[in-house]
This record gives sequence, C-alpha cells and structure tokens, in this order.
Amino acid sequence: VERTLSIIKPDATKRNLTGKINAKFEDAGLRIIAQKRIHLTPAQAGVFYEVHKERPFYGELCEFMASEPVVVQVLEGEGAIAKNREVMGATNPADAAPGTIRAEFAESVGENSVHGSDAPETAAVEIAYFFSGLELVG
Ligand code: GTP
Ligand code: MG
Repeated sequence: VERTLSIIKPDATKRNLTGKINAKFEDAGLRIIAQKRIHLTPAQAGVFYEVHKERPFYGELCEFMASEPVVVQVLEGEGAIAKNREVMGATNPADAAPGTIRAEFAESVGENSVHGSDAPETAAVEIAYFFSGLELVG
C-alpha cells in the first residue's frame, strides 16, 4: 500500500478544523498512521517548500506555514497519493470540486487548509522530513 505526507495548514488548525478534515480522510478510506502537531519556523517551512523557492509567493507561503501550528500526518491506503489529492480538491478553492476539503474549508489559493504530496518520490522525502520509521504505525 501507498503512503503520503499530509499537512493540515495554519488556517485550518486556527479554525479548529483538524477533526473535520481527518474525517474526510478516513471517510475516503485513508488511514492516519502517524500524526503530530508542530509549530514550524519560517526556515523549516522554507526547506519543506524549497521546490517553490523561485515562485513569487514563496516568502508569503513560508511565513504563513509558520504563523500557527500545523498537523503533519502520514496517510496510508491503496493509491493514497492520488486519493488524498482528490479529497483535498484543487489548489485554488474557487476551482475545487464540491465536497472536497478545499471547497468546504479553504480561505484562498494561499491559505488552502491542506498539503498533500504529489508523487511517490516527493512523498518519501516529505515523510522522512517529519517522521522517523518508528513513528509510522501502519
Ligand atoms: P500543496 O499540497 O500545498 O503542495 O498544494 P498544491 O500541490 O495543490 O499546490 P502547489 O504545489 O502548486 O503550491 C504549493 C502551495 O503554495 C499551495 O498549496 C498554496 O498554499 C501556495 N500557493 C500556490 N499558489 C499560490 C499563489 O498564487 N499565492 C499564494 N500566496 N500562495 C500560493
Ligand atoms: Mg504541491
């Protein structure tokens, strides 16, 4: 089975949406096999989002990700990466399909409630950034 890294972002933790978002994952058949609440520094967020460092919104994105606690988690299931992104919805909530997390909860294209890995290679790197093997309880 596949694993993916998910982050419940500051806009969502601030509004007490962790449980509602986790219910969406579990209803879709994704198992939460690791989870912790952390408060990133801007530098730690910067390393995580390094692939976006040339984008104009990079500074804003790093500040946002460090503005409030986040919940980092590992989701497991058949096709977990694609399934998670389906449950998340499009990056911009205006384009997100009805019923998706971003359609229901996201505030804007930047403050969009969740992150999900986009490929097996990035999932492996992102999981290892936050969790040791012993913390993954499948
Ligand atoms: P992630 O799962 O968070 O990686 O989202 P994504 O894969 O749907 O989007 P992408 O990787 O293209 O962008 C990463 C993150 O950067 C997004 O989730 C947003 O939080 C942020 N972002 C993307 N586009 C914009 C933008 O135009 N403005 C701002 N402020 N943030 C943006
Ligand atoms: Mg992405």
